[in-house]
Amino acid sequence: MAENILENSLLIECRIEVESAIESVVESSLNGTYAPAMELAREILLAGGKRIRPVLTLLAYDLAGGDNRDDVLDFAVATELIHTATLIHDDIYDGAKLRRGVQTLHEKHGLDHAIIGGDFLFVMGFGLGGRYEERVVRIMADTCAAIAAGELKQIQHISDLSTTPEDYYEIVRGKTAGPFASACECAAIIAGASERDALILREFGMELGIAFQLVDDILDLTGDERMGKARGTDIHEGKMTLPIIHALTLLHGDSRRILADVLAEFRDDRWGELEELLEQGDSFGYCRILIHNHLERALNHLYEFPQSEVRDVLEAMTRQVMTRNE
Ligand code: IPE
Ligand code: IPE
Ligand code: MG
Ligand code: MG
Repeated sequence: MAENILENSLLIECRIEVESAIESVVESSLNGTYAPAMELAREILLAGGKRIRPVLTLLAYDLAGGDNRDDVLDFAVATELIHTATLIHDDIYDGAKLRRGVQTLHEKHGLDHAIIGGDFLFVMGFGLGGRYEERVVRIMADTCAAIAAGELKQIQHISDLSTTPEDYYEIVRGKTAGPFASACECAAIIAGASERDALILREFGMELGIAFQLVDDILDLTGDERMGKARGTDIHEGKMTLPIIHALTLLHGDSRRILADVLAEFRDDRWGELEELLEQGDSFGYCRILIHNHLERALNHLYEFPQSEVRDVLEAMTRQVMTRNE
């Protein structure tokens, strides 16, 4: 596999297709009834997301044997609109100030505007995705219901020091991995693939999505401005992410007491203490092993397809999740 496969023309082509399709949805909504809400939503929509879900959708479609990407493009754009809607709302309940390198909608325009901006993008997403067969629309709806369930469970576990890895995994499957899985599965359905191939792609997306969120949770503790969002949002919010759950389980005595105290009222002057506690139990090491395992499983699903250029690109994107810093 070529070293620079992430600069491969197929991947660049997919990124361009996605970006221009999103831009044209924005353009065509800037007149008439849609204009006020799109003016608002586009601040986040066009602020520079990684577009991993729609790009994955196009590549999964190709891998599953699709031969006309135009057929899947609306669905791909729908995944990004719905994803951006969830980010706008997620930032409200996470109290986040920065998203994609710009001020969050609720910070800049207030809660009311952010709720409306998010709702609008959900509706736009379903407007585009709703033209597909009933099965695809059903999967999209089920995925959104599972995002809601995941986010609600996460809220229930705020500052709950007895949160288990199983709780964490349930949250992550709902809020993050589910959308990856359904994007890949629906791409296969739209390509006219077999049930078996659609299922393999679903499993691939699920494993990739779990790894993606695990990395996101490590980045919340270790990342920098390349993320386009503030470091430590999870900790300030009392979110029980896996490195924290692991450290709470492993540490004992004074270390465990200090960790509970650091988490109870986190302040930026306690970063040093927190980092040391997480290192004591090698909590990042534990999470990295799990990330590696999920990515291996994702790759094994991919390898059920014969080698091809698109499979190589998907393989490279999968491997890149481990080392991403944005
Ligand atoms: C952020 O998703 C939310 C998570 C599921 C971790 P991305 O990291 O894909 O965010 P954007 O779309 O690139 O901004
Ligand atoms: C993912 O969780 C959010 C959604 C799936 C909507 P996070 O809360 O960790 O995502 P970030 O860190 O805000 O991007
Ligand atoms: Mg968040
Ligand atoms: Mg996060």
